Amino acid sequence: MEINGKTRTCGLIGNPVEHTLSPMIHNTLSKLLGHNLVYVPFPVEQGRVDTAVAGADALNLLGLNVTVPYKSEVIKSLREIDELAENIGAVNTLVKTDGGYKGYNTDMEGLYRAMTSEGIVIDGEQIILLGAGGAARAVAYLCAVKGADKVYMLNRTVGKAETVAEEVNRTVGREVIVPMATEDYTKLSDRKYLAIQGTSVGLAPHTEDVVIDDAALYEKIHTGFDLIYNPWETKFMRLVKEHGGNAYNGLKMLLYQGIIAYELWNGVSVPEESAQMVYEKLKGHFV
Ligand code: ATR
Repeated sequence: MEINGKTRTCGLIGNPVEHTLSPMIHNTLSKLLGHNLVYVPFPVEQGRVDTAVAGADALNLLGLNVTVPYKSEVIKSLREIDELAENIGAVNTLVKTDGGYKGYNTDMEGLYRAMTSEGIVIDGEQIILLGAGGAARAVAYLCAVKGADKVYMLNRTVGKAETVAEEVNRTVGREVIVPMATEDYTKLSDRKYLAIQGTSVGLAPHTEDVVIDDAALYEKIHTGFDLIYNPWETKFMRLVKEHGGNAYNGLKMLLYQGIIAYELWNGVSVPEESAQMVYEKLKGHFV
């Protein structure tokens, strides 16, 4: 693609942004789909998010992604916010509208699309969710909205799980999230669960770490989904597989959060074939 007078710009604001794979996602998509669009990383210093968003607006940037540590802080700089993003309390995608940006959360729809593409069902399921931080909170909300029967939220700091459960249950109007201390996994009834690993434990370079190491847990898991994709196979995933379950990493979630953002910016539907091509390129980065 040749950059010319009609080229539209999208980008990523966060700190740090040096290791992002998002430029690979969006610049590959714009090439595949023949759009005149470039995507670049913008490191933003602490305390300058509001200025960055105002500047982006003034420069007529088509859209932005937002990453750590600004996903909540950016909300006050928006003109409008999508309901899902508002309930989650985190925004990762900004779309230009007249007079400012509208904020969305495509991380969670991305996770949902990633799971659906692997044939994983949330509706009616009993789910074990590890963690109660920003990522796990959003997963809890997604599971509640998508019809999970129960979500057992296990966290080292049980008070955090209790707060999240109370908030999500109130928002969805049913007692779906059950907060528990991590060590109470032994109290889960003997059946098979979908388990989602939503903590930062096991992330490179700490690849031998895992929240729970006990075979008794893994015998209860039919499918494990780790939000981490670096390393390609986490210890959590390995333990799930060793006990006969299917395990997936978070790379498809990363892929689809990007695809959905791209669709919002360009008003298009990205063909699955193009999504697969981007996925193969991303995967080449790890294996
Ligand atoms: P994120 O935005 O990635 O979710 P976060 O909000 O800092 O990050 O949350 C990190 C999650 O990983 C939390 O659930 C945290 O548990 P606590 O709430 O008890 O802090 C969990 N976590 C991080 N390090 C952990 C460790 N060594 N053992 C167990 N849980 C850990």
